[in-house]
This record gives sequence, C-alpha cells and structure tokens, in this order.
Amino acid sequence: MAKMWAGRFSKEVDETVNAFNSSISFDGRMYRHDIQGSIAHATMLGKCGIIPEEDSVKIIKGLREILDDIESGKLELDMTAEDIHMFIEAELTKRYGDTGKRLHTSRSRNDQVAVDIRLYLRDEIEEIRKLTAELVKELCGIAEKNTDTIMPGYTHLQRAQPITLAHHMMAYGQMLLRDLSRLADTAERMNVNPLGSCALAGTTYPIDRFMTSELLGFREPMVNSLDGVSDRDFCVELACALSLLMTHLSRFSEEIIMWCSWEFKFIELDDAYATGSSIMPQKKNPDITELIRGKTGRVTGDLVTLLSMLKGLPLAYNKDMQEDKEAIFDAIDNVKLCLKTFIPMIGTMKINKENMRNAAAKGFINATDCADYLVKKGMPFRDAYKITGQLVALCIEKNETLETLPLEEYRNFTDLFDKDVYTAISLETCVNQRNSYGGPSPEAVKVQIEKTRTSLAEAMS
Ligand code: ARG
Repeated sequence: MAKMWAGRFSKEVDETVNAFNSSISFDGRMYRHDIQGSIAHATMLGKCGIIPEEDSVKIIKGLREILDDIESGKLELDMTAEDIHMFIEAELTKRYGDTGKRLHTSRSRNDQVAVDIRLYLRDEIEEIRKLTAELVKELCGIAEKNTDTIMPGYTHLQRAQPITLAHHMMAYGQMLLRDLSRLADTAERMNVNPLGSCALAGTTYPIDRFMTSELLGFREPMVNSLDGVSDRDFCVELACALSLLMTHLSRFSEEIIMWCSWEFKFIELDDAYATGSSIMPQKKNPDITELIRGKTGRVTGDLVTLLSMLKGLPLAYNKDMQEDKEAIFDAIDNVKLCLKTFIPMIGTMKINKENMRNAAAKGFINATDCADYLVKKGMPFRDAYKITGQLVALCIEKNETLETLPLEEYRNFTDLFDKDVYTAISLETCVNQRNSYGGPSPEAVKVQIEKTRTSLAEAMS
C-alpha cells in the first residue's frame, strides 16, 4: 500500500522493513474504535469551521460505510498497510478523494492511537468486569448451599482449624470484589481524552477538545498535550489489575487441582470440564485450572513487558510504544478465556461433602478448641496450649484422636476436664462457635454472603 508520508522519500520502503514496522495484524482489532474517534474528530472539525461542514458530513458518512463494510466482510483489512489508522484513512480517501484527505487536519496518529486504545480498553474492561461479577455470583451460589459443609482450613498446607466450604468460597468472593473495584478505578482514571494533543504540541487550529471529549464519553480533555501522547500508564495499570485477578484465579485453580486429586477427593469436575490422558485410561485431568495457573505467568509477563517498554522512553511518542498493544491485548484475551471456562467449571463441579468432613475430622484440627475449653474453665492460655500439645502427642502414640481418647487420660493432665469436653471439641461445635465477625460459622458466613451480594450489586450499578 502506498505510504501517505511518501512525499519526503525517494524510494519505497523495503518489504521486510514494512512488515517489521506494520502493526495492522494486531491493531486491526481496533477498527471500530478508530472509526468512532475519527467520527468525533470530523464532527468537531466541521462544527468549529476548520473544514467545510459538508465535508465533515461526507467524511462521517464514509466512515460509517467503511465500518459496515468491515463488519459485513465486504472490506478486508490490507495486511500491507502500516496500521489500522492509515488503512481506514486511505480507504476513505479512495472512496471520497479530497474530502477524505481533510480528515487528518489537526490530528496525528500519536493522539489518534492514544484515543483508540482508551476506547478499546474501556469496552474490554466492561466485559471483564461482567465476567468477574458472574464468577462472584457463582461463588455466592455455591456458598449458600454449603454453609454447613465442614472442611479443613489449612496453613502451610497442614490441617489447621475447621472451616466451611462457604467460608472458603467467600474468601475468594472478597478478593474478586477488590479486583472489580481495581478495574473500575483503572477505567475511571483512563477515561480522559488525548485527542487534540496532535503530534505532541497541540495545534494552531481552533479545535474544541471539550466537544470531542463529550462526543466520545470522556470525562475531560487531557490537560497536557505531551502527556496525552506519551504515557501508557493506563495499560500498565490495567495489566497490573489483570495480573492480580489472574493471581487470584491461579491460587483458586491450584486448590481445585489438589481437591480433585485422589489424595483429597473433595470435588469432582464435570466431564465437560476435564480432560483425559492419551495413555493412562484412568486419568481425568484438571487441564483448565492448570492452564489458568500457567497463563497467570504469561499475564504477569505482559505487565513486565509494558513496564520495561516505557521505562527508558524520552517524551513524547516513540515507536517502542507500538509494543503496548500486543501485550495488553494478550492479557485481556487470556483473562477473558480463563474466566469463561472457570465459571462453568466451578458451577458444575460435584462437591464431596463427606470427604471434606472426614479430612477435617483427622489431623487434630480441634486442638485449639481443646485448649480454649480449658481457658474457658479458668486456665491461662499458654498452660492450656501446653497440655493440649501433650494430649496430641499422647494420642499419636496411642493411635487415638482427641475425640476417642478416654476421659481418664484427659484427667491425668488436669481435672478441669469433664465429659463435656467431647461436645466442646466436636467438629460441629468447633465450626458453629466460630461466630466472630468474618468467621466460618454458618451464621457468620451468611452475613458474608449477604454483604458480598450487596457489594456486587453496588459495584455493577
Ligand atoms: N501504529 C502506531 C502505534 O501503534 C501508531 C502511531 C504511529 N505514530 C508515529 N509517529 N509513527 O504506536
């Protein structure tokens, strides 16, 4: 495709260089937003008398036709074009001659691309927020059905204290709500208009940047034209929010991988969301979750790409910045894919309540409660802690658990023990009495579910 900047040059650009330089293979996806930005620009040019009103009208009509033709498949993107911006402008000129050539008055690709990415990312963030909200809703549903599903809570992956599956789900619910709010903050901060920054130093034409801001739904024009074309902090910020979201999904995935192992057997994935092995007939593998865990590294990599790309750049635009798109698009694509598979996967998994409970019944998970029993009878906590430790050692030696150890053995340590110790250390008591705000008891978790649902509705309103 002929270059618009060919005037200064005496030769055509080398083919390899052209391919190296071109970004249309990946920025082509922004065609809609490029046209949206150009329509606003053309409207403003006409209204401000910078180009004749009838040219503005014709340009807008032409841009709409191009949009329709791309959407219907009638017009294919030319992969030899330098980028999507050049392609659309050239197509407009092909169709409308001199009128088309007036579109780029008082504009540079530098502010054009800065507008396009913002418009594009604004839409994508909305979609990712909707998916994340769907996941939170799914978690609330699972939690509601499992407020009394007892399972072990772990520290260091060692059984620690009993909790409920609902409690565990609502922990992720809270993390995801923070992801939602981080994404909203990012969208809010990036929603300002760089158009009119032009190449870097604004323009001598009497443009109206407030008008284009309003037309494009931006809060206001960016205050400084150099800043308008130089920074990609909004891509970094989004990549960071997405990396954190992926990190949460990755930790959750890791747990699901463990939970569906034969060693745990806490859950079973639906056949539609698991895969088999090419050699071992017995296998049912949690590939989705492993891919999510793996892709988390990739999204973090996108964040690092963006940060490293920016850190040495003098103001204003540098071609290095073209590298922003592949990184942020990759992060977005992968997050969406992960959410779209993760949501139905956890929505269809079978929960093996009995195995969860059995796992909680082992491993002296009620030892803290045994110590607390003595504290409630007047013993200082440190002494109660020590005695309980000795009781655990004794149980291990005798192949007993705290539930099965005879009362005489208890009383050999202190006669504060009575037969009510068995109720005090039963799993149900351990969970039901953990009633502190934020705790795992059914009562406490119901409050969390309620609060999560309210916060979710607020976040999405
Ligand atoms: N394709 C370019 C990018 O994505 C558009 C901006 C080009 N600007 C320039 N001065 N060469 O960054």
